[in-house]
Amino acid sequence: MVKLLLEITDLAVEVNNKEILSDVDLYIGKGETHVLLGPNGAGKSTLFMTLLGFPKYKLTRGEIIFKGEDITNMSTTERVKMGFGVSFQNPPAIRGVKLGDLLKLEHGEREESQEISPELMEIVRKLKFDENFLERDVNLGFSGGEVKRSEILQLLAQEPDFIMFDEPDSGVDIENVELLAEEINILLDKDKKLGRRKKSGLLITHLGYILNFVGADTAHVLMDGRIACSGNPSEILEDIRKEGFKGCIECCRMH
Ligand SMILES: Nc1ncnc2c1ncn2[C@@H]1O[C@H](COP(=O)(O)OP(=O)(O)O)[C@@H](O)[C@H]1O
Ligand SMILES: [Mg+2]
Repeated sequence: MVKLLLEITDLAVEVNNKEILSDVDLYIGKGETHVLLGPNGAGKSTLFMTLLGFPKYKLTRGEIIFKGEDITNMSTTERVKMGFGVSFQNPPAIRGVKLGDLLKLEHGEREESQEISPELMEIVRKLKFDENFLERDVNLGFSGGEVKRSEILQLLAQEPDFIMFDEPDSGVDIENVELLAEEINILLDKDKKLGRRKKSGLLITHLGYILNFVGADTAHVLMDGRIACSGNPSEILEDIRKEGFKGCIECCRMH
């Protein structure tokens, strides 16, 4: 039995006085990767932002426990300090901030220290990034794939325990999805057995193509703000590929 890292119980969330999520229960164990599937507008990004603690997303019910501590009322900064890491769907470009300097901060190195530490350099090489890349402004003029890969690089430097990815495969060429997936596997310690992995993940995806390359332990389907079903990722994906999400609606009605 794996130890639980994140426990979401009976969550309901409002945005601009409109209820977007309700009855959401989700339990993620240490070292596990869960995947959240669902059609556009189902509320996937809303759940992402809520877990991150953005004030616009108002909890009207439920609680969120992380590492055994109630974080329901904690700020985003406190959650990140406790070990939350995120890869945004559309991270902003930051003019005037070099990726190398941001990486140093994320790795806990002082910005003024001129040299990038050997440890950090090892991470950069692990992801096969060109060193010149570190001199560029964060995300400015990066291709879709480079933006996503720079998010993964930053997460490797930051070393969080729980990482959420909002549609990491969106805007990435099909041939680059495999490369991105390999990097996500490195980040989530996929080369180690479940009990030895340090990091857990929640991977949000609309189409699930990336799951051909990233293994998930459990899948959940979010439909209209509720978890319609949870279970074996390959079985659920096979059903969705055959029947689309409409099969999930019918499956919901049967329960
Ligand atoms: N800022 C907002 N104000 C009002 N409604 C919003 C806002 N953001 C999202 N929504 C609504 O919440 C629902 C879920 O959106 P979202 O979480 O982005 O879905 P997904 O990520 O699954 O595509 C949609 O109906 C959307 O219109
Ligand atoms: Mg979304």
